[in-house]
Amino acid sequence: MLTIALSKGKLIESALDLFRRAGYAIAGLSAESRRLIFVSPEHDMTFLIVRPSDVPTYVEYGGADAGIVGKDVLMEQESDVYEPLDLGFGACRIAVAALQGEEVGVRLSPKVRIATKYPRISERYFNARGIPVEIIKLYGSIELAPVVGLADRIVDLVETGSTLKAHDLMEVEVIARSTARFIVNRASLRLKQEPLMTLIRNLRAVVPSQRMLSDSGRPMTLQTRKKKMVRS
Ligand code: PRP
Repeated sequence: MLTIALSKGKLIESALDLFRRAGYAIAGLSAESRRLIFVSPEHDMTFLIVRPSDVPTYVEYGGADAGIVGKDVLMEQESDVYEPLDLGFGACRIAVAALQGEEVGVRLSPKVRIATKYPRISERYFNARGIPVEIIKLYGSIELAPVVGLADRIVDLVETGSTLKAHDLMEVEVIARSTARFIVNRASLRLKQEPLMTLIRNLRAVVPSQRMLSDSGRPMTLQTRKKKMVRS
């Protein structure tokens, strides 16, 4: 039996659609349901519905064998999991944004105040540039922070850009791009190798122009890919 963690919210519909197309239609499993666990004896799988930021935790600690989560969450949490598939959907960017007119080099205090739900990504990004920052951790509605003077900048997800626009904010810099990833627990990959490899193969078959990823999540060069194939 494989246990798969899926995240509530923006990725769930595309994740369920991916599983359906790969031949794993799960009766009763829908984004609207209040149920948090779905067992599919037919496919020998259990699905868990958890918060996006909890998916890597379930997978890393073996509460789930695998899961689907945004690269943004993986970058923030630096979880120790395999990341064999870039699923392509849920494309967005992690960007720095500021109020219109305040986007160019305004230093209101010795430290630039950054409101974000990505404190680690933000800290790494500004540290690497030698910019002193004070990180203000929020859990949502990040775009409000500069509007009410809580922060000078935000670091947040941008998909269509309409939330930024609605709050007179503009994108200053793109830190990273994100898409949904299929992640796997390291021990499960050894102990449940056969069902997991079958699942990965079936998912890969329905992901358009699948790029193969290294363990770090970076696209592999042809050379690394060949070496890996020879080894396995
Ligand atoms: C995310 C993100 C932005 C918005 C970006 O928020 O934090 O607010 O989506 O999308 P857009 O560029 O298409 O407007 P989410 O809906 O996850 O809610 P949150 O603010 O509670 O985190």
